[in-house]
Amino acid sequence: MEQIEIDTVSGRDITPWLEDIAKLRLQVFREFPYLYEGSLDYESDYLKKYASSDKSVFILAKVNRKVVGAATGLPLIDADEEFQAPFKEHGLNISQYFYFGESVLDKNFRGRGIGHMFFDAREAFAWHNCFRWTTFCAVERPENHPQRPPNYRPLNQFWEARGYQQRPELNTCYSWQDIGEPEETSKPMIFWIKSPV
Ligand SMILES: CC(C)(COP(=O)(O)OP(=O)(O)OC[C@H]1O[C@@H](n2cnc3c(N)ncnc32)[C@H](O)[C@@H]1OP(=O)(O)O)[C@@H](O)C(=O)NCCC(=O)NCCS
Repeated sequence: MEQIEIDTVSGRDITPWLEDIAKLRLQVFREFPYLYEGSLDYESDYLKKYASSDKSVFILAKVNRKVVGAATGLPLIDADEEFQAPFKEHGLNISQYFYFGESVLDKNFRGRGIGHMFFDAREAFAWHNCFRWTTFCAVERPENHPQRPPNYRPLNQFWEARGYQQRPELNTCYSWQDIGEPEETSKPMIFWIKSPV
């Protein structure tokens, strides 16, 4: 079995890896429930936010120096307005939250505990930088969505086992182009939250 190396990089140090991560996101997020018909232009805009935040973090899984997986995070205060809005609406102090963008892993390397390592490393980064909460959001797709694979297993149990609580009152919409659709459409997203104590 190949040796997998896990590295943590922050802020501008991510720049050399951005193209690899963009390609991986385009590959993995074609899967349900994301169904993301991305483009390198959209990716470069999206990832630029991370490169320009001093306290962003990328956990990279590498095999023979090739990126096979990545997990991202940044202070909620540096994230897109769509992600900050529900926290502000509920009077929450967004400077206390560290936002996890996503985890993406090449299918050939799943089921070996890398998903757990992605959470461990991002949480350690967030607590070390004195954030009070870690959070992420997940897209809501209808149960009867025509593209839902019959053997699809949501990640909810994994997230609950990691100590995250789904918070339906903290919800937002985020737009991207679905595979086979002519333009971007807005998707409902629900937040999950964890506190270290
Ligand atoms: C999420 C992802 C990074 C997890 O990576 P992984 O290395 O396979 O995860 P792990 O081996 O650490 O397993 C983590 C947990 O996932 C769950 N899991 C494993 N395979 C699963 C599957 N096919 N479907 C649903 N959950 C699964 C298990 O509960 C496991 O926890 P356990 O071992 O304590 O029971 C990977 O599956 C992936 O890239 N998925 C597609 C993109 C995605 O959904 N990203 C998350 C939201 S941005």
